[in-house]
Amino acid sequence: MYTAEAQRALYELSKTLLYAPQGIPSDETAAERMENLRSVIRYHEWRYYALNDPVISDFEYDQLYKQLEALERQHPELVVPDSPTQRVSSDLTEEINQVAHLTPMLSLDNSYDAHDLFEFDAAVKRLAALPPNALVEYAVEPKFDGGTIALVYENDRLVRAATRGNGLVGDEITANIRTVRSVPLQAPFSKYGIAKAELRGEAIIRKDVFEEINAARQAAGESLFANPRNAATGGLRMKDPKEAASRGLEAFVYQLAYAVDAQGRSVLEKFPTHAEALAMLEQIGFKVPLAQAGPTGLPERRLCRGIREVIDFCEAWQAQRESYPYEIDGMVVKVNALDVQERCGYTAHHPRWAVAFKFKAKQATTRLRDVEFQVGKTGAVTPVAKLEPVQLAGVTIQNVSLHNEDFIRSKDIRIGDYVLVERAGDVIPYIVKVLDHLRDGSERPIQFPSHCPVCHSPLVKLADEAVWRCENADCEAQVLQRLIFHTSKNAMDIEGMGESTIIRFYQLGWLRSIADIYRLDYEKIAQLEGFGKKSAANLRKAIEKAKQNPIHRLLNSLSIHHLGQKSSKLLAAQVEHVLDLAQWDLERYQQIKDIGPVLAQNVYRFFHNPSNLEMLKTMEALGVNLRQTAEDRRPSSAVEGPLVGRTILFTGTLSTLTREQAEARAAAAGATIASGVSKNLNILVVGEKAGSKLRKAQELGTVEIWTEEEFLKRI
Ligand code: IVH
Repeated sequence: MYTAEAQRALYELSKTLLYAPQGIPSDETAAERMENLRSVIRYHEWRYYALNDPVISDFEYDQLYKQLEALERQHPELVVPDSPTQRVSSDLTEEINQVAHLTPMLSLDNSYDAHDLFEFDAAVKRLAALPPNALVEYAVEPKFDGGTIALVYENDRLVRAATRGNGLVGDEITANIRTVRSVPLQAPFSKYGIAKAELRGEAIIRKDVFEEINAARQAAGESLFANPRNAATGGLRMKDPKEAASRGLEAFVYQLAYAVDAQGRSVLEKFPTHAEALAMLEQIGFKVPLAQAGPTGLPERRLCRGIREVIDFCEAWQAQRESYPYEIDGMVVKVNALDVQERCGYTAHHPRWAVAFKFKAKQATTRLRDVEFQVGKTGAVTPVAKLEPVQLAGVTIQNVSLHNEDFIRSKDIRIGDYVLVERAGDVIPYIVKVLDHLRDGSERPIQFPSHCPVCHSPLVKLADEAVWRCENADCEAQVLQRLIFHTSKNAMDIEGMGESTIIRFYQLGWLRSIADIYRLDYEKIAQLEGFGKKSAANLRKAIEKAKQNPIHRLLNSLSIHHLGQKSSKLLAAQVEHVLDLAQWDLERYQQIKDIGPVLAQNVYRFFHNPSNLEMLKTMEALGVNLRQTAEDRRPSSAVEGPLVGRTILFTGTLSTLTREQAEARAAAAGATIASGVSKNLNILVVGEKAGSKLRKAQELGTVEIWTEEEFLKRI
């Protein structure tokens, strides 16, 4: 359908239209711009719908679509009937019967940030003739990313199920839907005086079930589904209901779209709010978004008073989406009261009383310009891809690690390639795959160096490791990385001694080994541009403080391969003086629980290298503590986490977490759960209707008082 060359050109054109409109010829007319937009949108629709393999993110596609819509609004005379905007999207399949919906199924308008939601809220008030400062009540729930379904019940029985189709007519999929356990075949609508009803919802597949399905397909040599949504929409249309049943489909219902009594009169008014309609559906056995907190710590549906609360809830969900068992691509915000909905009305395309809040795209495509090889503190050489900058989940990405040679080979990544990058949650971005159909032959394979890019000594690869290493401990890159790590937060934690300061001092020749950090000349520092007396004095204070650190920090700061925070604590608990370790034989290390043979070997080697011992002695002479402290002696179980060493207590009703969930999260963050308010309590988290505990804590004056929101932020 499209040649590689054409695809490449369309891809480039898309990126220009999105990110570099200054690159568009200044004499381009609106008609030309519209034609360009149409051709790139058609191309991306083909990649998405026909191939299931999009090359730009949904967000980018939406932006292109919006550009075209805006131009068509300005120039209605230039709208052509075959424009992508003129087609009501359709998923009709020929072999399946088609049925008309009882009311049209509309789409949703999209919003992307707080600003868009404020505008939506303002528009709602304008349309519904409410005062600008009114707090509109909104029902907010996940935007499930599956296949839309419409269910018709007559006389308490499921009589028909259909896909969305073109919004007016859909594919009949009753037999397949009957295999979905979460769709009741009978439901007591008549209790509410309803003789016939149409419900809207979404058929979806849990993420873990999806993984199982794909694993089974892989084992059977079948092609894999790109995502749970494709598996779900495909499942809805299977010819054989048994096959549909094997997909593990579930259905959430999120709208009562039509309800009439035996005389055919609408009874929708009996449910004057969306929340009441959902509560009724929940009551009679449907799976609806739940009001109680779920696995994310958040409820699936919540009523929000005013748009501020809506924004907070949407953002909380955006942060938690990875821990939700289903794929969702945003939240849906609906005016709760039906009479306000009616006053807002509809466009031909969507209701004006609802909007989708789309999460930031987790994936984007860009071009790999070059690869750099970075040497780490223990000599590992890591290839790092230099990308053309691209927006991902709200941040600009230009560097991603390619881990090691095996990773590069297994994905066949080449310089000049277009790549798909993903950043899920807080996870570091990574390359998912190469878009090899966009190759034009100019791509170059990545050459792994045989020598250290910094000190040029030959690189070595150990039999059981995937990485190449520079074994020269004096390699400048390693020395610098060790210095940077030594002062960092988890190591000696020297404030004011960050990466840029270290590099600067290093370039001035002041730092060659970590011992030099403890004999800096503060007079000279005070004279440096950007420093002055005060900063120099502060730095001195921070370094003097670090000298008193417990020895587990010192051990961790030495960049011994595989020796981390946890194992440093284990070692520190066993020695009175750091240099005692020089007397230990290999066996002695291995007797410590959780210290394996490789780590034992590394520590042993470090403490049998005379220059390391020399360095430690120098540090001691400069005042650095090498003796075990009380903190080193303490047994450490939960050694990591933002609340380590602090006691916490919850009081009042929390809004997004149950008490058990809150306590579990606090414990996971390292805190100890207190039994009451006392002098030993550090933190009190207060929910609604907090009583005597809050008063008592306030009286003590030593307890930090946090809201639930603050607690969630801190952990
Ligand atoms: S309400 C008239 N609620 O999003 C408003 N839609 O573009 C009707 N969707 O294909 C939609 N989760 O299937 C609504 N909680 C939810 C939803 C939801 C997913 C889908 C819907 C439609 C698309 C709207």
